[in-house]
Amino acid sequence: MEINKGKVKILVIGSNGLIGQKVCELIIINKNIELIAASKSANKLPLVEPFFHYLDISNEFEIGRFICAHKPSVIINCAAITQVDDCERDKDNCWKINVDAVQFICIYAKQYNIRLVHLSSDFVFDGISGLYVEEDETNPVSFYGLSKLEAEKIISAELEDYVIVRTILVYGISHFMTRSNLMLWVKDSLEAGKTINVVNDQYRMPTLVEDIAKGTLELALSEFSGIYHISGDELMSVFEIANRTAEFFNLDTSLILPTSSASLNQIGRRPAKTGFNLNKARAHLKYSPRSLEEGLLLLSQQIDAFNANYKK
Ligand SMILES: NC(=O)c1ccc[n+]([C@@H]2O[C@H](COP(=O)([O-])OP(=O)(O)OC[C@H]3O[C@@H](n4cnc5c(N)ncnc54)[C@H](OP(=O)(O)O)[C@@H]3O)[C@@H](O)[C@H]2O)c1
Repeated sequence: MEINKGKVKILVIGSNGLIGQKVCELIIINKNIELIAASKSANKLPLVEPFFHYLDISNEFEIGRFICAHKPSVIINCAAITQVDDCERDKDNCWKINVDAVQFICIYAKQYNIRLVHLSSDFVFDGISGLYVEEDETNPVSFYGLSKLEAEKIISAELEDYVIVRTILVYGISHFMTRSNLMLWVKDSLEAGKTINVVNDQYRMPTLVEDIAKGTLELALSEFSGIYHISGDELMSVFEIANRTAEFFNLDTSLILPTSSASLNQIGRRPAKTGFNLNKARAHLKYSPRSLEEGLLLLSQQIDAFNANYKK
C-alpha cells in the first residue's frame, strides 16, 4: 500500500467491534487520515478491505511485529473481552486481552512514539456514588471492571501521550454483529412477543455508538491527554431505557417485567448506579451527545436502510 506522507496514520485495533467499526467509518471519510484496521476475525467492514489486517493481540510477538511494520502515529484500541460474565468465567482470557495485551501495546507505543487512545468503562466504579468525574475513586465490583482498571493503570504509568476514554452502555448497529445490545435485544424480543426481565435497580447513561466514536476520534486527533468520560447525558434505570425503547418502536411495554439485579443471578456483579459528569468533554471537545430518542431515531433509520438493502 502506498504510504501517503503528511497524513495522520491511525491503527484501529478491534476494528470489527461495535465501536471499532464506527471509528473506522469516521476515519474513512476523512481524507487527512490513513486507516489501518486490525482485528482478530475476518473483516466485517465492507468498505475497508484493502486497509484490513488480521491481528491477534493475545500474542506479544504479533503486536510488536505489526506495530513495527506499520508504524502508526496513533493507535485506537477498541479490542477487549467485553462481556462481564465471560470475564468471570474465563479470567485468564479476560486478563490476557484486557490487561496483558494492553501492556504489550504500551511497550511498542513507547518505543515508536505512538499516541495511544484506549477504550475503558464505567465498570471501573462501584456504582455507589455516581455521577462520576474522571478523578473519582475507582473500585470495580467485577473481574471485567478490574481488568479495565488495571489496563488504565498500566497506560497512565507507562505513557505520556495517551487518552483513556471511558464510556457507558453503548447501543447501535454494526455489520455482522456477533453480540446484541440492550436496545436491539428489547426491540427483537418484544417484536417476537417475548416477555423480558429487565433490572430496575441499575442506572446508566446509554451512549449512542456514533457519539462515542466521534468523541474518541476527536480525542485521538487532539493534543489532550488523560482520562475522558464520554457517554449519553441522561441517567435512567435500565428498566426505563427498555420502556422508552419499546415506546419509541411502538411495542408492547407490558412485556417488560421489572426485576432486581439479585434475582437475575448473573455471575458478574454490575455497579448499581454509574453515569458520568461530562463537563471535561463538553469543555475540551464541545461534546454534545444525542438524547435517547434522537439516538433511537438514527438507529431505526439504519435498521430500515439495512432491511431495504437486504431485501433487494
Ligand atoms: N459496548 C459497551 O457497552 C461498552 C461500554 C463501556 C466500555 N466499552 C469498551 O469499549 C471497547 C469496545 O467495546 P465494543 O462494544 O465495541 O466491543 P465488541 O463489539 O465486543 O468488540 C470487541 C472487539 O475486540 C476484538 N478482539 C477480541 N479479542 C481480540 C484479540 N485477541 N485480538 C484482536 N482483537 C480482539 C474482537 O474482534 P473480532 O470481532 O475480530 O474477533 C471484537 O470485534 C472495549 O474496550 C469495551 O470495554 C464498551
